[in-house]
Amino acid sequence: MAGIELINVHKQYVVDERPVKVLKGISLQIPEKHITVILGRSGCGKTTLLRLTGGLEQVDEGEIRYGLSHKTAFVFQEPRLMPWLNVWNNVTFGLEKKDQDQEKIESIIAAVGLCGFEKAYPSQLSGGMQQRAAIARALAYEPSFIMMDEPFAALDYFTREQMQKELLRVQGGQGSSILFVTHSIDEALLLGHRIVVIENGLVKAQYQVPETAGERNLLDDLFISLKRDIINNLNTTE
Ligand SMILES: Nc1ncnc2c1ncn2[C@@H]1O[C@H](COP(=O)(O)OP(=O)(O)O)[C@@H](O)[C@H]1O
Ligand SMILES: [Mg+2]
Repeated sequence: MAGIELINVHKQYVVDERPVKVLKGISLQIPEKHITVILGRSGCGKTTLLRLTGGLEQVDEGEIRYGLSHKTAFVFQEPRLMPWLNVWNNVTFGLEKKDQDQEKIESIIAAVGLCGFEKAYPSQLSGGMQQRAAIARALAYEPSFIMMDEPFAALDYFTREQMQKELLRVQGGQGSSILFVTHSIDEALLLGHRIVVIENGLVKAQYQVPETAGERNLLDDLFISLKRDIINNLNTTE
C-alpha cells in the first residue's frame, strides 16, 4: 500500500478526570502524491487526527498503517521559525550537513518564491513569506507526507489566496503528499483532491474532487453543488 491507512481509529482525552471521546472510529485512506483535506468545525478533532497520523501521538484503539517510508514534516498555523536564523538556515535546520544539497535547497527556496531572501531573518519577512519559509523547511526534509494544520488561517484574505495557489503549484511540481487540515469549506474546495468531512468524531462524508482544466473556479456549478452538499453534511446532527 502506498500512502497511509487509518483503520477504526479511536482517541480520547481525560479532562478534569472525565473522558472526552474525540475520535470514535475513523477509517480513512490517505493516498500519496495528492492533497487530502480534513474538513470540520473547530474542536471536531482535526488536529488530533493530524497528530496521530503524523506519529506525534498514539491511538487508543485501531491502527494506522504506513506505506514503505514513514517520514513526516509538519506545518502549523504559526510558521515556528527560529528568529535567530536566516531563511536558508531555517530551511536547512534539522538536516544533517551531508543531506544539504545546495542546488536542491536553492530550488525549494525558489519554488516557494523566496529567491533573494535566503539571508533575511524572520523578523524581516511578512507573515506570508514566513509561512513560505516554513513550507520550504518541510519540503527540504523530504518527507513522505507533509501534515499541514490550518497553515494559512492566520494570513489576510489576499495572502491566503496567493498561498493556496502557490501550494497547488508546489505540490503539483514536487508531487508532494499532503494531509491538510482546515475549517474553511472554500479552502477545502480549492485545494483538496480528496475532502474528508469529520463530524462528531466520525467521517461524515468523503468527496473525490474531479480534475478540472486549469485553476478551480468555486463559482462553477460543480463546486457550488459540492459546497451545498458539504454544508448540508455539516449542519445535520444525528
Ligand atoms: N491534549 C489534550 N488534552 C485534553 N483535551 C484535548 C487535548 N487535545 C485536544 N483536546 C480536546 O479534543 C477536542 C478536539 O480538539 P482538536 O483536535 O484540537 O480539534 P480541532 O483541531 O478540530 O479544532 C477538543 O474538545 C479539545 O479540547
Ligand atoms: Mg486544530
